[in-house]
Formats: sequence, structure tokens, C-alpha cells
Amino acid sequence: LKVRTFTTSIRAQAVPALTQDDLKKLAADKAVDYVKSGMVLGLGTGSTAAFVVDKLGHLLKTGQLTNIIGIPTSKRTEEQAKSLNIPLTTLDEHPVLDLAIDGADEVDPDLNLVKGRGGALLREKMVEAASKSFVVVADETKLVSGLGGSKLAMPVEVVQFCWKYNLIRLQELFKEEGVEAKLRVDGTGKPYVTDNFNYIVDLYFETPIRDGVSAGKEIGKFEGVVEHGLFLDMATAVIIAGTSGVEVKTK
Ligand code: 5RP
Repeated sequence: LKVRTFTTSIRAQAVPALTQDDLKKLAADKAVDYVKSGMVLGLGTGSTAAFVVDKLGHLLKTGQLTNIIGIPTSKRTEEQAKSLNIPLTTLDEHPVLDLAIDGADEVDPDLNLVKGRGGALLREKMVEAASKSFVVVADETKLVSGLGGSKLAMPVEVVQFCWKYNLIRLQELFKEEGVEAKLRVDGTGKPYVTDNFNYIVDLYFETPIRDGVSAGKEIGKFEGVVEHGLFLDMATAVIIAGTSGVEVKTK
């Protein structure tokens, strides 16, 4: 496996410090270069993907892009795309997409990802797996040496019926990584409910996951687990914006 990196410098001298949002926007702008008129596009979810959707809306409005059609990966993205008059479709209507662009929570050196802190992992994985290309947009804070290494959540979507049963099984599965499993709650303290009416169990690791592929397989065997946030060997390219430039990593 060989990951190739191309860097474009973005800093001139005496430029004010770039905020994290500036970096997200730079990554989003670069990703939109991959979009061509007539494409069926997967529209990601999250603050970085929202910059992509904004830009697509602008390019359509100004006639720089025509005839694109999007498949949103969440209700939030669907609302944003509708507000920008981006034509939408479904996976049932278009089971093969040309390109999906989405953010990520973690990116490892082999371009494997953790996704779903925004709660949209199920639709994201379906749309991105159905796409001929999947371009990830992120700022440099998302880079990790091993998945689970950021100490932030790795989400697992579970059916409501047996959430605690699966929380205990997940805790047991990852005991060597020192995992803490928690049911995700919303701002009012109630369980967070996904667009697909499921719950999310968030896994917090003390040490990175040793073997992502087998972890993904083992999690997938649990009855009542709907999907997990390990996106392994799915990204075609990862665009990382940092204070010293925009890097495009490809396999
Ligand atoms: C949502 C996701 C997002 O892509 C991920 O959480 C990154 O979000 P942000 O760009 O806001 O950091 O997977 O389910």
C-alpha cells in the first residue's frame, strides 16, 4: 500500500493565522475541483462537508456547474441542499454515484477513517460505498497515527431495543484497548436518535484499535448493531488543509 501526497502552499508571509473553519473551507474548495457537470454526487454531513455543499450551491447558481444531482447523507444536509436549490435524488433512483465528498473525524496514514461523530454514519457509509470515488475533506487536526487514537468517540449505531446489551458486548470486545462505551445523549440528556431512529454507542479508546479490519468484522457480527464508524479502505483521496498548505493524499 502506498499513499501519495501532493502539497499546495497556501500561506504567504504576514497572513493572519487561519482558523479551523478557514482550513475546512480550503479543503472544501479543493474538493469541489473534482466535481464535473452532470455528476451524481454524494453530499456529506458535518461542518466541513457543509462548506462543500455551500460551494456547490454557489457554482450551480452562477452557472459554473450544471446538471448535478445530489444524494444527501443526512436530513441536515438534505435541508441545506434544498435551501441552495441543489437537485436531489435517492440511492434507490441512482444506485451508483460518480463522486461522494464528506468530512471525517479521524484519518490514519493508510487513509482509513473514523466517521459518525455527527451521527450520520449509516447513510454516509451507504452513499460512500456506492460511489465510484470518495473524497474526504478535513483539517489537519483529524490526522491520527492509529484509528481510535484521538481519544474522541468512535460511534456504533445500534437498534434501540438492545442498546445496553450491545454496549456491554462492545465494551467486552475492546477491553484490551481500554475502551469506555457510552450511550450518546442529546442536549436535553435524552438518548440521541439518528435519522434512522436508532441509538449510538460511542466508544472511547485508551489506545488505538490494534486491527481495524478485524474490529469492523467483529462489531458487524453483533445482532442489533446497524453500522459502525470505521470506514476502512473506502477513501479514494483525502484532502487535508493545514497551516502550511493543502495536501491531497491518494492511494
Ligand atoms: C458525520 C461525520 C462527519 O463527517 C464528521 O463528524 C466530521 O465532521 P466535521 O467536519 O464537522 O468535523 O462523520 O456523521
